[in-house]
Amino acid sequence: MAAARLLAVALSLGTLLLLVGVFSVSGAEELTTNTSSSSSSPQLSPVLATESKAESAGARRPSVEQELDAARAAIRRAARRRHGDGGNVSSAAPEWFHRDDVDYVLLARVYRNPAGFYRSYVEMERRFKVYVYGEGEPPILHAGPCKDIYTIEGRFIEQLELITGGVRTWVPARAHAFFLPFSVAKMVKFAYRPKSNDKTPLLSIVADYVRVVASRHPFWNRSAGADHFMLSCHDWGPEASRGDPELYANGIRALCNANTSEGFRPGKDVSIPEINLYTGDTPRQLLEPAPGLSSRPFLAFFAGGRHGHVRDFLLQHWKGRDPDTFPVYEYDLPSTTGNGTTGKGARGPDRQRDYFSYMHRARFCLCPSGHEVASPRVVEAIHAGCVPVLVSDGYAPPFADVLRWEAFSVSVPVADIPRLKEILERIPTAEVERLLDGVRLVKQHFTLHHPPERLDMFHMILHSVWLRRLNFRLNQ
Ligand SMILES: *[C@@H]1O[C@H](CO)[C@@H](O)[C@H](O)[C@H]1NC(C)=O
Ligand SMILES: *[C@@H]1O[C@H](CO)[C@@H](O)[C@H](O)[C@H]1NC(C)=O
Ligand SMILES: *[C@@H]1O[C@H](CO)[C@@H](O)[C@H](O)[C@H]1NC(C)=O
Ligand SMILES: *[C@@H]1O[C@H](CO)[C@@H](O)[C@H](O)[C@H]1NC(C)=O
Ligand SMILES: *[C@@H]1O[C@H](CO)[C@@H](O)[C@H](O)[C@H]1NC(C)=O
Repeated sequence: MAAARLLAVALSLGTLLLLVGVFSVSGAEELTTNTSSSSSSPQLSPVLATESKAESAGARRPSVEQELDAARAAIRRAARRRHGDGGNVSSAAPEWFHRDDVDYVLLARVYRNPAGFYRSYVEMERRFKVYVYGEGEPPILHAGPCKDIYTIEGRFIEQLELITGGVRTWVPARAHAFFLPFSVAKMVKFAYRPKSNDKTPLLSIVADYVRVVASRHPFWNRSAGADHFMLSCHDWGPEASRGDPELYANGIRALCNANTSEGFRPGKDVSIPEINLYTGDTPRQLLEPAPGLSSRPFLAFFAGGRHGHVRDFLLQHWKGRDPDTFPVYEYDLPSTTGNGTTGKGARGPDRQRDYFSYMHRARFCLCPSGHEVASPRVVEAIHAGCVPVLVSDGYAPPFADVLRWEAFSVSVPVADIPRLKEILERIPTAEVERLLDGVRLVKQHFTLHHPPERLDMFHMILHSVWLRRLNFRLNQ
């Protein structure tokens, strides 16, 4: 711990600059090794190499901007066709939508523009390249947590950096976007003094990192950060991004904590799902087939802590009030094995089994904001075949430029918590069935695979970045 603290101080005092200076040798090596097969001279500095590559490449391959233009045109054509043929997306997206188990009415309900999305996704697979800055060292750079509540920070970095043949390019001239591979969760672990509430070390690390990449490469200054992105699931991700004013104002910030009252801008930033993988794997119970509506006796279910004002309000109103149809617990979830209750803070397999068994027996799963707007319950509910009920204010849910959340979830403003039961009771069974069809359809987008698979959470996050880099609105 002392060593970590020492490292933390060193990092927070701007020594990162120094560290990066030392390690930059390896960064330069990567670049030259991986470009030596191309026509440019490995002796050139990265800056010059990039420029000369861009020029010599111009003759052979379309420029990055030309590629983006071509992609925009293709997506626009596909998106328009929707209007032309009365919503027949099967003609526009044959491989993807020609599945026996998917009906087109459902697709048109769940996706804002199925054909447009399909085209955009395929264009992304065909073209999108991300350059990952090599500067910096683990644990704070190039690594992140791969289990528990901030799983996505580590998994995203790992999948982007390690999976070969993917979206990563080693040639910055071919990149459409540039990734800043830091983990705010790791910064908090190594650079934050517990209970100090002093977040300046996090802001300093972000500031240092941007300063380093902006001084060593031409790309940041070229766009003032607009084609750069970061990703953080930690509550303090948005705060840390303030470390560099251009990152905050122009950069694409992929965040779990997507609170529009705290500067999250849905057109520029990317909302990402929070997924809590206690062990690093999707819990077994959630992989089992979800029970149908008829074996779900509860209208809705919640169990969790009194974190923040939304939870407080929810528990005040509903805790213990109607356990037979509307079970709401503050940690004290009754054990399904007759062992009393699984106590406060209990995690382990027992607590998880009980928790998911409730999710499997409820039609709706309440997903109130905690200290921050996002809740891992949304992903858990989707996997448990339970309609998520987003109880929040100012939350921009993930992938909303592609998905119609109203087709597979219910949104309730915090002020309506007292009417929650009434609101849910009024939804007719046929509509609940429709919502569940939606839940089943979108599940693939909220699943993490290793290695990543088509249309999974990793790729949906990338697709969100791609859309913002294209500056293309699919949802119009
Ligand atoms: C060069 O790129 C490949 C992926 O194309 C990567 O596996 C390899 O590690 C890179 N080389 C260096 C020296 O980093
Ligand atoms: C939709 O397009 C497919 C493929 O072109 C075609 O087979 C099908 O008949 C069309 N459906 C409607 C309702 O137009
Ligand atoms: C980018 O701008 C910063 C601030 O003006 C400057 O210090 C840095 O040297 C510039 N980077 C490059 C590669 O010119
Ligand atoms: C209680 O929990 C333990 C451990 O999970 C289990 O072996 C046992 O069967 C449970 N039930 C009772 C009634 O003790
Ligand atoms: C969202 O941000 C606003 C403004 O800072 C804050 O009042 C609110 O509590 C935040 N929401 C949650 C759930 O934390």
